[in-house]
Amino acid sequence: MLAVRADHAQQQLVARDLVGVKVEDGLLVEHEAVVGERGADAPGPGGGVGEAGGALAVGVCTARRRERGVNASRGRRPGRYREGVLLLDLHLHLLPGVDDGPEDEAASLIHAERLARDGVHEATVTPHVGHPWFPLDVATIPERTRALQAALDAAGIDLRLHPGGEIYPAAATTLGAAELDVIAHGPRGARWVLLEVPFAGIDEAYLAACAHIRELGFGLLIGHPERAVGFLRGGRERLREEIAAGALLQVNVCSLLGRQGPEALAGARMLVGEGHAAVLASDGHGGTRAHTLAAGPAAARRAGASVQHSRQLTGVNPRRLLQDGIPARALERPLAA
Ligand SMILES: [Fe+2]
Repeated sequence: MLAVRADHAQQQLVARDLVGVKVEDGLLVEHEAVVGERGADAPGPGGGVGEAGGALAVGVCTARRRERGVNASRGRRPGRYREGVLLLDLHLHLLPGVDDGPEDEAASLIHAERLARDGVHEATVTPHVGHPWFPLDVATIPERTRALQAALDAAGIDLRLHPGGEIYPAAATTLGAAELDVIAHGPRGARWVLLEVPFAGIDEAYLAACAHIRELGFGLLIGHPERAVGFLRGGRERLREEIAAGALLQVNVCSLLGRQGPEALAGARMLVGEGHAAVLASDGHGGTRAHTLAAGPAAARRAGASVQHSRQLTGVNPRRLLQDGIPARALERPLAA
């Protein structure tokens, strides 16, 4: 699909990709490209998630490029940053002292500095929500995020955060719409949340958790499906209905790097190489998992993605999910006989 907006003579046309996923047989199979524009209606530095305007993604790239130009000599690693490449991480444990991420603010700042140095300048923070090992009041996440953002700003670290959460599957059905909305992203009518898979495998309880969230009006980004035991031996088929209902898949960079074992690696390679993944995210944990999303594009290419596809997975698609959301759709089930 190609779409062109050229009604403002002063605006400069640039190539831009949209999430544009296509579902066949319950799995994503195609990404679409469009031609967008930037210039007069581009947002200022820092972007503006949720703001209207087709030039948002490109505008943020442009703003960041200017900022990087100013900071280009400050501590970045040669070769890690490529001009104009947007990296936006939708799965990141960066809040201090709430889960198995950084234990304190100092550790958060160390990982945040690493992110910024690697060219990751925007992220959702996704502490575990409902995990029995990490009790956390969901209502505190926005304030915790604001406090960390203030610390980042004070330290001069160029990283913009959004509050979010990674929902523990077994707890999903205990969450109400108000709690989900605290950790959801996207505009009204297309709000979505991140729901991780159970490591023990995709089962009926997990599908019930997905259904609960959808019935409350939220779309789903399914976190690291490749980490569910048996994903390539029946697990992916169990997700078909959810994907057909609009759920999107988020693959971990660390899985693609082989750090979650051979089964997760094989699953991640399949999802990326065959075009089923919508997003790559780090699932980085400040303090224990130090990789960043910057490792994602090369890892995706090793899995068979093109350069363009790798950029969609690590920057363009995450941006579109924040901007446009994921509409919740009821599953269409045949009438009982
Ligand atoms: Fe996570």
